[in-house]
Amino acid sequence: MSGFPTIRPRRLRQSPTLRRMVAETHLHPSSFVLPLFVVPGREVRNPIGSMPGHAQLSVDEVLPVVKEASSVGVGGVILFGIPASKDEQGSGAWDPAGPVPETIRAIKDQVDDITVWADVCLCEYTSHGHCGVLSGETIDNDATLPLLAHAAVVYADAGADVIAPSDMMDGRVAAIRTALDAAGHRELAVCSYSAKYASAYYGPFREAAESAPAFGDRRTHQMDPPNVREALVEVAQDLAEGADMVMVKPAGPYLDVISAVRDSVDVPVVAYQVSGEFSMIEAAAANGWIDGDRVMLESLTGITRAGASIVLTYFATRAARALGAL
Ligand code: PBG
Ligand code: ZN
Repeated sequence: MSGFPTIRPRRLRQSPTLRRMVAETHLHPSSFVLPLFVVPGREVRNPIGSMPGHAQLSVDEVLPVVKEASSVGVGGVILFGIPASKDEQGSGAWDPAGPVPETIRAIKDQVDDITVWADVCLCEYTSHGHCGVLSGETIDNDATLPLLAHAAVVYADAGADVIAPSDMMDGRVAAIRTALDAAGHRELAVCSYSAKYASAYYGPFREAAESAPAFGDRRTHQMDPPNVREALVEVAQDLAEGADMVMVKPAGPYLDVISAVRDSVDVPVVAYQVSGEFSMIEAAAANGWIDGDRVMLESLTGITRAGASIVLTYFATRAARALGAL
Protein backbone atom coordinates (compact mmCIF):
# COMPACT_ATOMS: atom_id res chain seq x y z
CA MET A 1 0.00 0.00 0.00
CA SER A 2 1.51 3.27 -1.04
CA GLY A 3 0.96 6.37 1.01
CA PHE A 4 3.06 9.36 1.90
CA PRO A 5 5.16 10.73 0.20
CA THR A 6 3.46 9.50 -3.00
CA ILE A 7 0.02 10.57 -1.81
CA ARG A 8 -0.22 14.18 -0.63
CA PRO A 9 -3.86 15.37 -0.34
CA ARG A 10 -2.58 18.91 0.23
CA ARG A 11 -1.74 19.16 -3.51
CA LEU A 12 -5.39 19.81 -4.38
CA ARG A 13 -5.72 22.59 -1.79
CA GLN A 14 -3.05 24.92 -3.15
CA SER A 15 -5.23 27.75 -4.57
CA PRO A 16 -8.79 29.03 -4.27
CA THR A 17 -9.42 28.17 -7.93
CA LEU A 18 -8.20 24.62 -7.50
CA ARG A 19 -10.18 24.20 -4.28
CA ARG A 20 -13.33 25.42 -5.98
CA MET A 21 -12.73 23.06 -8.89
CA VAL A 22 -12.46 19.97 -6.69
CA ALA A 23 -15.28 20.98 -4.33
CA GLU A 24 -17.75 18.13 -3.86
CA THR A 25 -20.60 20.34 -2.65
CA HIS A 26 -21.89 23.57 -4.19
CA LEU A 27 -24.38 25.97 -2.65
CA HIS A 28 -26.80 27.73 -4.95
CA PRO A 29 -29.42 30.36 -4.00
CA SER A 30 -32.06 28.52 -6.03
CA SER A 31 -31.98 25.81 -3.34
CA PHE A 32 -32.77 28.24 -0.52
CA VAL A 33 -36.25 28.95 0.85
CA LEU A 34 -36.76 31.97 3.13
CA PRO A 35 -39.29 31.66 6.00
CA LEU A 36 -41.49 34.74 6.51
CA PHE A 37 -44.02 35.67 9.20
CA VAL A 38 -47.04 37.52 7.90
CA VAL A 39 -49.60 39.47 9.93
CA PRO A 40 -52.83 41.29 9.08
CA GLY A 41 -52.88 45.05 8.53
CA ARG A 42 -50.74 47.59 6.74
CA GLU A 43 -47.34 49.04 7.58
CA VAL A 44 -46.85 46.50 10.36
CA ARG A 45 -43.29 45.54 11.17
CA ASN A 46 -42.79 43.83 14.54
CA PRO A 47 -39.12 42.87 14.95
CA ILE A 48 -38.55 39.42 16.44
CA GLY A 49 -36.16 39.96 19.36
CA SER A 50 -34.54 36.54 19.21
CA MET A 51 -34.12 36.61 15.41
CA PRO A 52 -32.10 39.68 14.37
CA GLY A 53 -33.10 40.99 10.95
CA HIS A 54 -36.45 39.17 10.98
CA ALA A 55 -39.86 40.62 11.77
CA GLN A 56 -43.56 39.91 11.57
CA LEU A 57 -44.60 41.81 8.45
CA SER A 58 -47.88 42.89 6.91
CA VAL A 59 -48.36 42.13 3.22
CA ASP A 60 -47.17 45.55 2.01
CA GLU A 61 -44.00 45.18 4.09
CA VAL A 62 -43.34 41.59 3.07
CA LEU A 63 -43.44 42.27 -0.68
CA PRO A 64 -40.12 44.20 -0.81
CA VAL A 65 -38.51 41.40 1.20
CA VAL A 66 -39.73 38.82 -1.32
CA LYS A 67 -38.61 40.99 -4.24
CA GLU A 68 -35.17 41.33 -2.71
CA ALA A 69 -34.93 37.55 -2.20
CA SER A 70 -36.00 36.97 -5.79
CA SER A 71 -33.48 39.51 -7.10
CA VAL A 72 -30.56 37.57 -5.59
CA GLY A 73 -31.89 34.24 -6.87
CA VAL A 74 -33.47 32.74 -3.75
CA GLY A 75 -35.65 29.84 -4.88
CA GLY A 76 -38.63 30.28 -2.61
CA VAL A 77 -40.30 31.75 0.44
CA ILE A 78 -42.39 29.84 2.98
CA LEU A 79 -45.19 31.71 4.71
CA PHE A 80 -46.33 31.44 8.33
CA GLY A 81 -49.41 33.43 9.28
CA ILE A 82 -50.35 35.07 12.54
CA PRO A 83 -54.12 35.71 12.56
CA ALA A 84 -55.96 38.69 14.04
CA SER A 85 -57.71 36.35 16.48
CA LYS A 86 -57.42 32.72 17.51
CA ASP A 87 -60.03 30.13 18.42
CA GLU A 88 -60.29 26.50 19.55
CA GLN A 89 -60.43 25.15 16.00
CA GLY A 90 -57.82 27.43 14.45
CA SER A 91 -60.32 28.67 11.88
CA GLY A 92 -58.02 31.53 10.86
CA ALA A 93 -55.94 28.89 9.08
CA TRP A 94 -58.53 28.54 6.31
CA ASP A 95 -59.74 32.14 6.14
CA PRO A 96 -59.30 33.14 2.46
CA ALA A 97 -58.87 36.75 3.64
CA GLY A 98 -56.14 35.81 6.17
CA PRO A 99 -52.58 37.10 5.87
CA VAL A 100 -51.22 33.95 4.19
CA PRO A 101 -53.68 33.76 1.24
CA GLU A 102 -53.49 37.53 0.87
CA THR A 103 -49.69 37.44 0.73
CA ILE A 104 -49.68 34.50 -1.71
CA ARG A 105 -51.94 36.43 -4.10
CA ALA A 106 -49.82 39.57 -3.79
CA ILE A 107 -46.55 37.72 -4.46
CA LYS A 108 -48.03 35.87 -7.43
CA ASP A 109 -49.29 39.18 -8.76
CA GLN A 110 -46.13 41.23 -8.24
CA VAL A 111 -43.02 39.06 -8.00
CA ASP A 112 -41.54 36.84 -10.70
CA ASP A 113 -39.21 33.93 -10.36
CA ILE A 114 -39.79 32.81 -6.82
CA THR A 115 -41.83 29.86 -5.54
CA VAL A 116 -44.31 30.38 -2.74
CA TRP A 117 -44.59 27.63 -0.14
CA ALA A 118 -47.48 27.59 2.31
CA ASP A 119 -46.85 25.98 5.68
CA VAL A 120 -49.93 24.11 6.88
CA CYS A 121 -50.46 23.76 10.62
CA LEU A 122 -52.99 24.96 13.16
CA CYS A 123 -50.70 26.01 16.04
CA GLU A 124 -50.43 29.64 14.96
CA TYR A 125 -54.23 29.77 14.76
CA THR A 126 -55.50 27.86 17.81
CA SER A 127 -56.16 29.65 21.10
CA HIS A 128 -54.36 26.79 22.92
CA GLY A 129 -51.36 26.77 20.57
CA HIS A 130 -51.63 23.07 19.70
CA CYS A 131 -51.18 21.76 16.15
CA GLY A 132 -54.63 20.17 16.05
CA VAL A 133 -58.05 20.26 17.64
CA LEU A 134 -58.27 19.05 21.21
CA SER A 135 -60.37 16.36 22.79
CA GLY A 136 -59.85 17.11 26.46
CA GLU A 137 -56.14 17.78 26.70
CA THR A 138 -55.05 15.55 23.82
CA ILE A 139 -54.94 16.28 20.10
CA ASP A 140 -57.63 14.48 18.12
CA ASN A 141 -55.55 13.32 15.14
CA ASP A 142 -58.37 12.26 12.84
CA ALA A 143 -60.61 15.24 13.59
CA THR A 144 -57.70 17.51 12.70
CA LEU A 145 -57.18 16.08 9.20
CA PRO A 146 -60.13 17.74 7.40
CA LEU A 147 -59.18 21.11 8.93
CA LEU A 148 -55.60 20.84 7.62
CA ALA A 149 -56.95 19.76 4.22
CA HIS A 150 -59.30 22.75 4.18
CA ALA A 151 -56.44 25.16 4.91
CA ALA A 152 -54.29 23.54 2.20
CA VAL A 153 -57.03 24.05 -0.41
CA VAL A 154 -57.39 27.72 0.58
CA TYR A 155 -53.63 28.28 0.08
CA ALA A 156 -53.76 26.34 -3.19
CA ASP A 157 -56.68 28.45 -4.41
CA ALA A 158 -54.66 31.57 -3.54
CA GLY A 159 -51.87 30.36 -5.83
CA ALA A 160 -49.28 28.60 -3.64
CA ASP A 161 -46.64 26.57 -5.52
CA VAL A 162 -45.92 24.09 -2.72
CA ILE A 163 -48.08 22.95 0.19
CA ALA A 164 -45.99 22.06 3.24
CA PRO A 165 -47.82 20.36 6.14
CA SER A 166 -45.81 20.73 9.38
CA ASP A 167 -48.36 19.40 11.86
CA MET A 168 -47.12 15.77 12.08
CA MET A 169 -50.61 14.26 12.33
CA ASP A 170 -50.72 10.71 10.97
CA GLY A 171 -52.47 10.54 7.61
CA ARG A 172 -52.37 14.23 6.82
CA VAL A 173 -50.58 13.92 3.51
CA ALA A 174 -53.29 11.63 2.14
CA ALA A 175 -56.04 13.91 3.48
CA ILE A 176 -54.40 16.96 1.91
CA ARG A 177 -53.63 15.21 -1.40
CA THR A 178 -57.23 13.97 -1.71
CA ALA A 179 -58.64 17.42 -0.96
CA LEU A 180 -56.26 19.17 -3.36
CA ASP A 181 -57.15 16.75 -6.16
CA ALA A 182 -60.87 17.14 -5.50
CA ALA A 183 -60.44 20.93 -5.73
CA GLY A 184 -58.67 20.61 -9.09
CA HIS A 185 -55.11 21.11 -7.80
CA ARG A 186 -53.79 17.81 -9.14
CA GLU A 187 -50.48 19.28 -10.29
CA LEU A 188 -49.71 21.09 -7.03
CA ALA A 189 -46.73 19.72 -5.08
CA VAL A 190 -46.76 18.67 -1.45
CA CYS A 191 -43.58 18.85 0.62
CA SER A 192 -44.21 16.99 3.84
CA TYR A 193 -42.39 17.83 7.04
CA SER A 194 -41.93 14.06 7.37
CA ALA A 195 -39.21 13.82 10.00
CA LYS A 196 -39.96 16.75 12.24
CA TYR A 197 -38.53 16.34 15.71
CA ALA A 198 -39.86 17.65 19.04
CA SER A 199 -36.97 20.10 19.27
CA ALA A 200 -35.89 22.79 21.69
CA TYR A 201 -34.39 24.58 18.67
CA TYR A 202 -37.86 25.94 17.77
CA GLY A 203 -37.80 28.42 20.68
CA PRO A 204 -37.34 31.66 18.68
CA PHE A 205 -39.93 30.57 16.09
CA ARG A 206 -42.59 30.26 18.77
CA GLU A 207 -41.94 33.89 19.71
CA ALA A 208 -42.08 34.84 16.02
CA ALA A 209 -45.25 32.88 15.27
CA GLU A 210 -46.87 33.33 18.70
CA SER A 211 -47.48 29.58 18.64
CA ALA A 212 -46.16 28.23 21.95
CA PRO A 213 -48.57 25.64 23.38
CA ALA A 214 -50.55 26.98 26.36
CA PHE A 215 -49.95 23.69 28.21
CA GLY A 216 -48.06 20.48 27.54
CA ASP A 217 -45.74 20.05 24.56
CA ARG A 218 -45.58 18.51 21.07
CA ARG A 219 -43.94 15.21 21.99
CA THR A 220 -46.92 13.01 21.15
CA HIS A 221 -46.89 14.02 17.48
CA GLN A 222 -43.39 15.31 16.68
CA MET A 223 -40.57 12.75 16.58
CA ASP A 224 -38.35 11.82 19.50
CA PRO A 225 -34.76 13.08 18.95
CA PRO A 226 -33.04 9.71 19.55
CA ASN A 227 -34.70 8.06 16.54
CA VAL A 228 -33.41 7.81 12.99
CA ARG A 229 -34.91 4.56 11.62
CA GLU A 230 -38.32 5.87 12.61
CA ALA A 231 -37.69 8.83 10.29
CA LEU A 232 -37.56 6.37 7.41
CA VAL A 233 -40.95 4.99 8.45
CA GLU A 234 -42.40 8.51 8.44
CA VAL A 235 -40.81 9.27 5.06
CA ALA A 236 -42.04 6.04 3.44
CA GLN A 237 -45.53 6.64 4.79
CA ASP A 238 -45.67 10.22 3.47
CA LEU A 239 -44.42 9.16 0.03
CA ALA A 240 -47.01 6.38 -0.08
CA GLU A 241 -49.66 9.01 0.71
CA GLY A 242 -48.49 11.18 -2.19
CA ALA A 243 -45.82 13.55 -0.88
CA ASP A 244 -43.57 14.89 -3.65
CA MET A 245 -40.73 16.00 -1.36
CA VAL A 246 -39.82 15.11 2.20
CA MET A 247 -38.33 17.28 4.90
CA VAL A 248 -36.03 16.73 7.86
CA LYS A 249 -36.23 19.33 10.63
CA PRO A 250 -34.15 20.68 12.38
CA ALA A 251 -31.14 20.35 10.07
CA GLY A 252 -27.75 20.88 11.76
CA PRO A 253 -28.27 18.54 14.73
CA TYR A 254 -29.90 15.92 12.45
CA LEU A 255 -27.38 15.55 9.61
CA ASP A 256 -27.38 11.77 10.05
CA VAL A 257 -31.14 11.78 9.50
CA ILE A 258 -30.77 13.86 6.33
CA SER A 259 -28.13 11.41 5.11
CA ALA A 260 -30.23 8.33 5.93
CA VAL A 261 -33.30 9.80 4.22
CA ARG A 262 -31.19 10.79 1.19
CA ASP A 263 -29.99 7.17 0.90
CA SER A 264 -33.50 5.73 1.20
CA VAL A 265 -35.53 7.80 -1.32
CA ASP A 266 -35.24 9.35 -4.78
CA VAL A 267 -37.35 12.47 -4.26
CA PRO A 268 -35.88 15.84 -3.26
CA VAL A 269 -34.82 15.89 0.38
CA VAL A 270 -35.51 19.21 2.07
CA ALA A 271 -33.93 20.34 5.35
CA TYR A 272 -35.07 23.14 7.66
CA GLN A 273 -32.31 25.07 9.39
CA VAL A 274 -34.64 26.21 12.17
CA SER A 275 -34.89 29.38 14.22
CA GLY A 276 -32.67 28.20 17.08
CA GLU A 277 -29.90 27.22 14.67
CA PHE A 278 -30.07 30.70 13.11
CA SER A 279 -30.27 32.54 16.44
CA MET A 280 -27.30 30.68 17.96
CA ILE A 281 -25.09 31.63 15.02
CA GLU A 282 -26.31 35.22 15.15
CA ALA A 283 -25.78 35.50 18.90
CA ALA A 284 -22.25 34.14 18.76
CA ALA A 285 -21.43 36.38 15.79
CA ALA A 286 -22.85 39.45 17.57
CA ASN A 287 -20.50 38.72 20.46
CA GLY A 288 -17.56 38.53 18.09
CA TRP A 289 -17.04 34.88 19.03
CA ILE A 290 -17.37 33.51 15.49
CA ASP A 291 -17.28 34.91 11.96
CA GLY A 292 -21.03 34.95 11.25
CA ASP A 293 -20.85 34.91 7.45
CA ARG A 294 -18.38 32.04 7.37
CA VAL A 295 -20.34 29.96 9.87
CA MET A 296 -23.53 30.71 7.92
CA LEU A 297 -22.03 29.27 4.72
CA GLU A 298 -20.33 26.41 6.52
CA SER A 299 -23.58 25.39 8.23
CA LEU A 300 -25.43 25.44 4.89
CA THR A 301 -22.60 23.50 3.26
CA GLY A 302 -22.82 20.83 5.96
CA ILE A 303 -26.58 20.47 5.53
CA THR A 304 -26.16 20.23 1.75
CA ARG A 305 -23.22 17.81 2.00
CA ALA A 306 -25.35 15.56 4.23
CA GLY A 307 -27.82 15.21 1.35
CA ALA A 308 -30.33 18.07 1.40
CA SER A 309 -31.19 19.40 -2.05
CA ILE A 310 -33.31 22.28 -0.70
CA VAL A 311 -32.69 24.19 2.54
CA LEU A 312 -35.22 26.32 4.38
CA THR A 313 -33.08 28.94 6.12
CA TYR A 314 -33.46 32.38 7.69
CA PHE A 315 -30.11 33.15 6.04
CA ALA A 316 -31.52 32.63 2.52
CA THR A 317 -31.14 36.19 1.19
CA ARG A 318 -27.90 36.89 3.04
CA ALA A 319 -26.36 33.58 1.94
CA ALA A 320 -27.43 34.22 -1.66
CA ARG A 321 -25.69 37.61 -1.53
CA ALA A 322 -22.57 36.13 0.05
CA LEU A 323 -22.42 33.45 -2.66
CA GLY A 324 -22.77 36.10 -5.34
CA ALA A 325 -19.80 37.93 -3.86
CA LEU A 326 -17.50 34.87 -3.81
C1 PBG B 1 -45.36 24.76 13.48
C2 PBG B 1 -43.96 24.96 13.06
C3 PBG B 1 -42.84 25.10 13.90
C4 PBG B 1 -41.76 25.39 13.07
C5 PBG B 1 -42.23 25.38 11.77
N1 PBG B 1 -43.59 25.09 11.78
C6 PBG B 1 -42.69 25.11 15.34
C7 PBG B 1 -43.25 24.09 16.21
O1 PBG B 1 -43.43 22.92 15.83
O2 PBG B 1 -43.50 24.48 17.33
C8 PBG B 1 -40.36 25.67 13.57
C9 PBG B 1 -39.51 26.47 12.68
C10 PBG B 1 -38.36 27.12 13.31
O3 PBG B 1 -38.02 26.93 14.50
O4 PBG B 1 -37.70 27.89 12.59
N2 PBG B 1 -45.92 23.53 13.24
ZN1 ZN C 1 -47.90 23.19 14.59
